[in-house]
Amino acid sequence: MSKSKKNGKILIIPKKVVTADAKNTILADQAIEIVDDIISSFVPIEEIQKQNYDEVYDVRNLTLIPGFIQTHVHLSQTLFRGLAEDLPLLDWLRLKIFPFENAHNEKSLRVTSQLSINELLLGGTTTFLDMGTLRYGEVVFEEMIDSGIRGFSGKCLIDRNDLYPDFKSTTREEINEIKNLAQSFHNSKSGRVRYSFSPRFVLSCSEMLLKETKEIMKDYPGSVYHTHSSESLQEIDEVRKRFHKENIEYFDSIGVLDDHTVLAHCVHTSANERKMLKERDVRIAHCPSANLKLGSGIAPIPQYLKEGISVTLGADGAPCNNNLSIFNEMRLASLIQKPIHGTEEIDAKTIFRMATIEGAKALHIQNEVGSIEVGKKADLVLMDLDSYSNSYSDSDESIYSNIVFSSTTENVKNVMVDGNWLVRVKQSLVYDQQELIAKGKEELKNLLKRL
Ligand code: GUN
Ligand code: FE
Repeated sequence: MSKSKKNGKILIIPKKVVTADAKNTILADQAIEIVDDIISSFVPIEEIQKQNYDEVYDVRNLTLIPGFIQTHVHLSQTLFRGLAEDLPLLDWLRLKIFPFENAHNEKSLRVTSQLSINELLLGGTTTFLDMGTLRYGEVVFEEMIDSGIRGFSGKCLIDRNDLYPDFKSTTREEINEIKNLAQSFHNSKSGRVRYSFSPRFVLSCSEMLLKETKEIMKDYPGSVYHTHSSESLQEIDEVRKRFHKENIEYFDSIGVLDDHTVLAHCVHTSANERKMLKERDVRIAHCPSANLKLGSGIAPIPQYLKEGISVTLGADGAPCNNNLSIFNEMRLASLIQKPIHGTEEIDAKTIFRMATIEGAKALHIQNEVGSIEVGKKADLVLMDLDSYSNSYSDSDESIYSNIVFSSTTENVKNVMVDGNWLVRVKQSLVYDQQELIAKGKEELKNLLKRL
């Protein structure tokens, strides 16, 4: 289903608007007007003229928030949920994830992409940064284009692989293919779909590949460089053995760190590495549930924030989580720090911003999305914050904790991306749920036979 059609002029009348603007403004008694894909104005309720709109959506029981932004996910892995349990990172990759990803064909990659986009949208995530997989990269882009979601993806780059040697390509092939894919898909659909250059991690890439990729990226303004770093102790031990450096020191030594670099995890970093992260203005994608499930550790996020380092959130892959809910990540991102750093770390408002406007800033799309402001794209979520398990207070003070601590994907009712409704009253307008899940089961069965 193509989502290029625009919806004309829409008016949404919510209970409140949590804008995530610079002042954290929360509006009441204001409707929001959307023309095509853009938020065009706020309209005081008493001034509404319903006849001026193609659609008036009166939802005074629901709260409008910006669509969530996840800065690290793996669409290719969603099909493997529940099949890689209780393992540490390198064994998890070696024994399960690399063999599974290696067995993808076009059909299985298509259905895992659809399952992921479906889950992200139903959970209120409107933008993501995907790590991709080794082959069939175009399939993910086709699904992003067709579904209407916003995001970045790119071929994951692997030209050496001591963990699972079958799962790699040559440096030349990798370079050629990213040029083709970036050329074909970067900035598709007026920039809704963008390219991310995605070396898998330092242990899977030659220095030449890491460096050349960074050079190629410069030909694609608006793209990002996305990789994993400093996730588990065993991984960084391997990095030390190979390079006689810490992971981030190595990246810095080959010139791949800058403000368009997104590093997933950063659980274990030295003071010197943190200095580099700050100086180079690198963006960290924090994945608390994956870090717990793979036993990697607890990232020093309060320290990063104090040092002025950009921190945003992602669910990582479904087999290390085991779901793609931003609500899990928000809740854990706060709670896991409290026993270590004190109960004031990290407050719900800061977490909410990490999952919205800070995510947009990390990806350099803050002029388009991440907050509800006039002139921005209409990437919006309507939440029911008045369910039996939510706060019974209507105060603005409790709204952030109501979203971050008391809500789940269940509270997400409607989702709009680029001015198009993709979820309406909890129903996906993109996918037939039963059909999609059945297709997923079928393709997983076929994939497991290819192992
Ligand atoms: N490091 C390299 N690949 C991966 C991956 O797929 N998931 C996680 N969590 N870490 C990685
Ligand atoms: Fe990851």
